[in-house]
Amino acid sequence: MQKFEIVAREDFSDVTYLLEVLHPAMAKAAQPGQFVIVMSHPEGERIPLTIADYDRAKGTITLVIQAVGKTTREMQRDCVLGSSLYGVTGPMGIPSHIGEAKKVVCVGGGLGVAPVFPQARAYKESGAYVIGIVGFRSKELMFWQDKFGAVCDQLIVCTDDGSAGIKGMVTAGIKKALREHDDIDEFVVIGPPVMMKGCAEATRAHKIKTMVSLNPLMVDGTGMCGGCRVKIGGEVKFACVDGPDFDGHLVDFDDLMTRLRRFTEQEKNAAQRWSESCRMATAPARPRTEEEVLPDPFDEVQGG
Ligand SMILES: Cc1cc2nc3c(=O)[nH]c(=O)nc-3n(C[C@H](O)[C@H](O)[C@H](O)COP(=O)(O)OP(=O)(O)OC[C@H]3O[C@@H](n4cnc5c(N)ncnc54)[C@H](O)[C@@H]3O)c2cc1C
Ligand code: FES
Repeated sequence: MQKFEIVAREDFSDVTYLLEVLHPAMAKAAQPGQFVIVMSHPEGERIPLTIADYDRAKGTITLVIQAVGKTTREMQRDCVLGSSLYGVTGPMGIPSHIGEAKKVVCVGGGLGVAPVFPQARAYKESGAYVIGIVGFRSKELMFWQDKFGAVCDQLIVCTDDGSAGIKGMVTAGIKKALREHDDIDEFVVIGPPVMMKGCAEATRAHKIKTMVSLNPLMVDGTGMCGGCRVKIGGEVKFACVDGPDFDGHLVDFDDLMTRLRRFTEQEKNAAQRWSESCRMATAPARPRTEEEVLPDPFDEVQGG
């Protein structure tokens, strides 16, 4: 069976890490805005991750991951240089539409800097003037400033604590861009739902197209299970096959945030049981009993 070797790893902070994965077919097919579904080991959960970069010549794709729960923490521990991912499915989702826009603002909040990068680069390659806005809690958490900055004509940095750039959230950067440029054709915003909601509100009155990339819970990633249901302009869409990019002015963000919180208790329990099993791992190895096997969140998500 094919394995997908991790050929590079970089840790940006205690919780954010980059994996460069050997997968020539995926690197050849990947387009900005698409994602993969990854299984790190045969018993692992399938999790969606955006293709943050791809190198067709090297045959690699890059994933930037935030350790938030059981699977992403397990991967943070186990996905070391030279190890392999068990399964990588994709590329999934509709590629971002890189249109005729002449001036585009690409906004990345925290981890969102990574998934917005391929779109910023594609716009730059299309000849557009690209304004990048990145937002982090503080300077220490910043990553890819050079890489992202290299595809931008102007880069606006925002930090919550003012340790770099403008003190404030990315919406402060959006206000600055709107003040300085009266010919912006489009915004592309990726980050936590509450941040994308705030950005969509900041651009609404200006009637400037604002695309966001949604991250609802996903199970199969093929439009079959309904887990990734989102409301767009009052219509139900499935983010895995109809998105993940949508018009931010039409997204029901409150519904998205409510749905993302549906399994908080189960996620907390899974993370706790995993932490306990890590501590037990120092004991002599023996097969897991049925009670010790971590729950598969997909069973609970199925049916949406
Ligand atoms: C299209 C898409 C692209 C994504 N790209 C990235 C990325 O590039 N980097 C990254 O770090 N994260 C990305 N995510 C989110 C990532 O999939 C979740 O953080 C991961 O599944 C959490 O798993 P966990 O077991 O570590 O945490 P859990 O404890 O299971 O969950 C923590 C939180 O992650 C979210 N989540 C949980 N399960 C899923 C799931 N199956 N699908 C989506 N979200 C889930 C929930 O909001 C939950 O509250 C993406 C999600 C989607 C839908
Ligand atoms: S993950 Fe989209 S329909 Fe199942």
